[in-house]
Amino acid sequence: MIDILLLHGPNLSQLGSRDPAQYGTATLDDVVEAARQAAKDEGAALTAMQTEHEGEMVARLHTARTDGTDVVIINAGAWSHYSYAIRDALEILTIPKVEIHLSNLAAREPFRHTSVLTAVCDGAILGLGIDGYPLAVQAGLALHERAST
Ligand code: DQA
Repeated sequence: MIDILLLHGPNLSQLGSRDPAQYGTATLDDVVEAARQAAKDEGAALTAMQTEHEGEMVARLHTARTDGTDVVIINAGAWSHYSYAIRDALEILTIPKVEIHLSNLAAREPFRHTSVLTAVCDGAILGLGIDGYPLAVQAGLALHERAST
């Protein structure tokens, strides 16, 4: 069975009550459940982790190199805009990687227009809120399929 790892970074634990105009009203549990259901529909398994700690995120990405993870989907929150440590950890990880953001970064403050992670991921989904997560699952599985044929 294909194992998808869904990672969330800082402040995403506050979804549901955090700036609903940008992020909607779905909680992190709702978002994870939407992704898990999409994975289940495709016969895949999904593990989720959220952390407020950058080192924990880096360490989890290292673990994903050897624990059987097939696909990573990551919403690194604000780290996306400046964390070269997470960028490097993603670069080391050679499995398919999909970046996701709930909000449309291009339509927000200038500091959000750049993600230092996009170049080391296979692709990115942004601005579609919770609806982006099933799409990210499908994209990750398609990348995995492409890589293994
Ligand atoms: C976010 C966008 C980031 O700029 C922000 O810092 C977040 C959430 C999103 O999902 O839209 O925490 O990653």
